[in-house]
Amino acid sequence: MKKRETIFLSPPCMHASERRMVKEAFDSNYITAGGPMVARFEREMEARTGIPHAAAVSAGTAALSLAYRELGVGRGDIVFCSDLTFIASIGPAIHAGAKPVFIDSNPATWCIDPALLEEALFDAQKRGKIPKCVTVVDLYGQCCDYDAIEAICARYGVPLLVDAAEAFGATYKTRSAGDAGFAGVLSFNGNKIMTTSGGGMLLSRDAAVIERARKRSQQSREEKPWYEHVEIGHNYRLGNVNAAIGLGQLAHFDAMLEKKRRIFARYDRELAGLMQEMPEASYGRCSRWLSVFLLDDGGRVMPLIDSLAKEAIEARPVWKPMHLQPCFKGCKCYGGAVSERLFAHGVCLPSGAGLTAPQQSRVIRSVKRILHEQ
Ligand SMILES: Cc1ncc(COP(=O)(O)O)c(C=O)c1O
Repeated sequence: MKKRETIFLSPPCMHASERRMVKEAFDSNYITAGGPMVARFEREMEARTGIPHAAAVSAGTAALSLAYRELGVGRGDIVFCSDLTFIASIGPAIHAGAKPVFIDSNPATWCIDPALLEEALFDAQKRGKIPKCVTVVDLYGQCCDYDAIEAICARYGVPLLVDAAEAFGATYKTRSAGDAGFAGVLSFNGNKIMTTSGGGMLLSRDAAVIERARKRSQQSREEKPWYEHVEIGHNYRLGNVNAAIGLGQLAHFDAMLEKKRRIFARYDRELAGLMQEMPEASYGRCSRWLSVFLLDDGGRVMPLIDSLAKEAIEARPVWKPMHLQPCFKGCKCYGGAVSERLFAHGVCLPSGAGLTAPQQSRVIRSVKRILHEQ
């Protein structure tokens, strides 16, 4: 029997331009961390996002780590973070010795609920335990309510970090995803809308923040002929070959973004009545990094995902909220019922920018049949 081709959740979507740029990197022999294509990639991302300063690093997690480092997050500090996210949003702060407090989602956006954030900050002020940082996550390509969150953080004098790892291409009003607070983070790992194989970026309107992050990403080496270090840095710089892939991907970014939105719109149309779509906030445009839907009956989510897997179709549940993670047992969470419901009822369907119409038809047919048979 012919083996069925696997349809992955969000695989890379490559073109001739990436190959051409990688060849150019090879021909120049800059097979290094850093290099001319890294600088070029940074300038193109600055132009594309409208955020004037960018440091390209080896992962979104590395960018988050540099952001926490910039704020001096350390032992005993508290960091507030969106509850519904991937662990990398808070992981580097925990490594630095901080304690998390999680804040639930708003059901209308699935992103952090500004009212709960305000409540948590009010409590924190009363107890004299203001967090060192508030980290908000642009979930599945949907921006948080930047204006509301910035105003709240400003009232309490707390720096805001935007984890826009999943949201390159999304907008909040006229701003790009990540363009809020003191800095924003993007990820270019292999499942993101655009990839550098592995990579990430810290972006900011503050040139000094990015200058320090770039230096720290290269072992904090001073400008001396010998190796001189006033502080201890990291080895986080993006590789030149990775940046070459990124430059090749950027040439196709608009088309890939458009494709993601079309994939979502087709699922939404053809699965109407069976599933409820992740809402799009009125203040911006979601990138639809992943096409995410809710089933009325949460008990059908895992059987659906398992049955799809048997048909070589990769689907996943929504992120498991941080407050339910064993490693965060006992950590405080404001709310939690919304993220729990989204986790229990949510399913992410194959959404790669390279997904063909016949492949998507196959996914839709399988979903309909499985849900009918269940
Ligand atoms: C919300 C969020 N934050 C951070 C990251 C970490 O990015 P990376 O995998 O590039 O380290 C990811 C994705 O992987 C993510 O989804």
